[in-house]
Amino acid sequence: MAQGGVMTKLVVIGQGYVGLPMALRAAEVGLSVVGLDSKRPVVDALNAGHSHVDDISDEALRAGLAAGYVASDDPVCIAEADVVLVCVPTPLAAGGGPDLRAVEGAARTIGEHIRPGTLVILESTTYPGTTEEVFAPLVTRSGLRVGVDVHIAFSPERVDPGNKVYGIQNTPKVVGGLTPACTAAARDFYAQFIDTVVEAKGAKEAEMAKLIENTFRHVNIALVNEMLRFCHELDIDLWDAIDCAETKPFGFMAFRPGPGVGGHCIPIDPSYLSHRVKAQLGYAFRMVELAEEINNAAPLYVANHLWKALNERKIAVNGAKVLLLGVTYKANVSDLRESPADPLARRLLSWGAEVSYHDPFVPFWSVEDDGHTTALTSVEDVYEACRAADIVVLLQPHSQYDLGRMAGESRLILDTRGLVPPAESVSRL
Ligand SMILES: NC(=O)c1ccc[n+]([C@@H]2O[C@H](COP(=O)([O-])OP(=O)(O)OC[C@H]3O[C@@H](n4cnc5c(N)ncnc54)[C@H](O)[C@@H]3O)[C@@H](O)[C@H]2O)c1
Repeated sequence: MAQGGVMTKLVVIGQGYVGLPMALRAAEVGLSVVGLDSKRPVVDALNAGHSHVDDISDEALRAGLAAGYVASDDPVCIAEADVVLVCVPTPLAAGGGPDLRAVEGAARTIGEHIRPGTLVILESTTYPGTTEEVFAPLVTRSGLRVGVDVHIAFSPERVDPGNKVYGIQNTPKVVGGLTPACTAAARDFYAQFIDTVVEAKGAKEAEMAKLIENTFRHVNIALVNEMLRFCHELDIDLWDAIDCAETKPFGFMAFRPGPGVGGHCIPIDPSYLSHRVKAQLGYAFRMVELAEEINNAAPLYVANHLWKALNERKIAVNGAKVLLLGVTYKANVSDLRESPADPLARRLLSWGAEVSYHDPFVPFWSVEDDGHTTALTSVEDVYEACRAADIVVLLQPHSQYDLGRMAGESRLILDTRGLVPPAESVSRL
């Protein structure tokens, strides 16, 4: 698309789950786009038309390449850019605090190449204050003035992997600049290819908006995960109760229990916020700490439930054949990051169980404990493996699973999702 008759030149730094779809969406509407990534194999694969991101098919990538998208690991393209987006990872450091090395690295690279007139937007999820205090000083270290020579803003990414309804175009985009002019520049940029752009008061509010969204999910998942424990003891079907509560047309949003939280966002982002509160104000964000404690314990609760279910049938976990179904962090994606299947498998292995798994998205899977790597056996025929297992654990209900058939073929199936139709063989979490 042309701005004032000139094609916008966009550089998107980080070509992962977030950056690649954004880059291709911009190319689709006619922007000239370079996807910059520091990993050479990622760049080569993208330019050869091979996508490593679930939601982007090779066909969609090739259409992007034909429309003018190109991947590169050479940051000189930043000097030509009108707009630079930063979509690099923001994991946790060893001590549990923010690891901003990728954000700082990208900001430094931009600072080396940027020319006046460029709009720079950070999209990586981070704590409020990062754009102003960490990111902008590195981008402008050659002496550029924010809001005058360059515009800098934050805009949280809202990608929901696997969501077929809401994508980049129809998910409203929040923008908050370091100055009103920065906000306006970011708004005008995204309005070229996103239906609704929402202006925050500033960058800190935009950063906080993302953390409110993820903390809300984290806390509500923890709420039902904790309720699950006493509902089980009280012989109450919590899933049924939630289905009933969900019929209230206002003031309620349903969250359902499960084996724990995973992915790049929910288990990590709220920690960025609690760390910020602790570091700057000296006190705890107790709600997040409690949610972390409960959700981190969820996989071990599954392990204990499995132990009890086998015990009732006079089977020891030690030596039992356990089949895990769906080991990714959510259904119908291939992302294994922070998957609750990992701590569950480690606990079961430590008890001497023979653990195998089935996952159509994961051909190879291993877990690490105390520096020791254990490769788990991936089974081919899921129904045959259900018949052979002492206990089957449904973790992620990938859409290709026929749950009724699985219940029929298994001697014992532990349903952590409340989705398997009731049968003699089914034990609900
Ligand atoms: N994955 C999601 O569902 C999701 C959703 C919303 C927000 N986010 C946020 O978006 C950000 C990016 O997450 P992601 O899932 O896309 O990460 P990712 O790991 O899939 O991709 C990041 C890419 O950035 C590259 N990279 C890292 N440092 C770089 C640098 N200095 N220069 C160039 N390339 C660099 C890596 O090689 C990698 O290919 C994170 O802050 C995350 O919290 C992710």
